[in-house]
Amino acid sequence: MRMVDIITKKKSGYELSPEEISFFIKGYTKGEIPDYQVSALMMAIFFKGMSEKETLALTMEMADSGDHLDLSAISGIKVDKHSTGGVGDKTSLSLTPIVASCGVPVAKMSGRGLGHTGGTIDKLESFDGFNVSISEKEFIDNVNSIGISLMAQTADLAPADKKLYALRDVTGTVDNMSLIASSIMSKKLAAGADAIVLDVKTGSGAFMKTLEDSRALAKAMVDIGNGAGRKTVALITDMDQPLGNAVGNAIEVREAIDTLNGKGPADFTELVYALATKMLILGEKAKTEEEALDMIKNAVTSGKALEKLASFIKAQGGNPDQVYDPSLLRVSDSVMVLKADASGFVDRITCDKVGVACMMLGGGRASKEDTIDLSVGIKLLKKKGDEVKEGDDLAMIYYSDEKKLTSALEELKSAYHIASVKPEKSVLIKEMIG
Ligand code: URA
Repeated sequence: MRMVDIITKKKSGYELSPEEISFFIKGYTKGEIPDYQVSALMMAIFFKGMSEKETLALTMEMADSGDHLDLSAISGIKVDKHSTGGVGDKTSLSLTPIVASCGVPVAKMSGRGLGHTGGTIDKLESFDGFNVSISEKEFIDNVNSIGISLMAQTADLAPADKKLYALRDVTGTVDNMSLIASSIMSKKLAAGADAIVLDVKTGSGAFMKTLEDSRALAKAMVDIGNGAGRKTVALITDMDQPLGNAVGNAIEVREAIDTLNGKGPADFTELVYALATKMLILGEKAKTEEEALDMIKNAVTSGKALEKLASFIKAQGGNPDQVYDPSLLRVSDSVMVLKADASGFVDRITCDKVGVACMMLGGGRASKEDTIDLSVGIKLLKKKGDEVKEGDDLAMIYYSDEKKLTSALEELKSAYHIASVKPEKSVLIKEMIG
């Protein structure tokens, strides 16, 4: 078999056989097929799509490209959660300590930023000394001793996805349904959880821009999960404007901590509580949504969820003082304010533009080798539906390089749309699948 024939076949719109998918995944994982040929294939898949059969074959091949994590040493029902990626999506940082403090063991592999979206692993590195690359033994020991551990995908877990994820990030091939479904589900299947809650984003900041596409993605992933014997549910949630107010890395961690202190933005809090509810039910810690919600609220008001975050940060070498005093997290103190150039209502915030503006500041990667600046970011002071007067502050930009600021400011400015009529309120949680 030759890689060039596989690229040509997909480019011409034909279905790849399981053997061809296996050939390219095995060859790429071993380093025998170069990035440039796989980039070409990713682009061909992007334009021609994949059938259900191809998507399933790709998922299974990637899940089996490395080790499967054995979580049997952790007692209880392990419930994993994964988002399809969004702007200001710091959900795992608040959600996981909440559910862990309610008794659901959290053993989670998270990702880095992808395209214009952020990643939990990058955000966690905002804590001084925090280690995202602990050994599998430490990972399992931490879950057994404190109930929670989050780490970066190891080199041995779905390594094909790890390589493809980094390649897609910089070749404009992220936003394809089959590639997203196989990327997420291969990791989730290899990571060994008993049940999976998926947060499928929809809107201008999501990889799937329409509800129809997001629904198809959610269905594909739920079918793969359930087919593999893992109870899987998906919530389709709004990503037509950034989630919460903070976009960046350290700045998002601060907002996640505010939320654990009961002082988070309403939309973000609503999403965290909704996902936590599903996780408590799947983890058999609550029988009804009401019971789950009471437990979640109690975990926040009692301070248990915040304490859980602090123990988790400490166990992985981070500084827990930054949990109790988030001002110790390094956010740049060079700030520029974006002002409204008209009066009216915020009609729309083109969400991916806010993510791109953050990347331009240095908060995301343009090439695989880039290191990111965790201290930069954007704080939205006005969101959809808010009334503004000309000259009002719309957003604060935390920057560390003046040259990067100029283009980021332009991008952010073009994201805000002000109209004379108040827009309809967006529904945050749109549907549940599974
Ligand atoms: N998250 C992933 O893990 N993979 C994708 O392709 C998109 C979001």
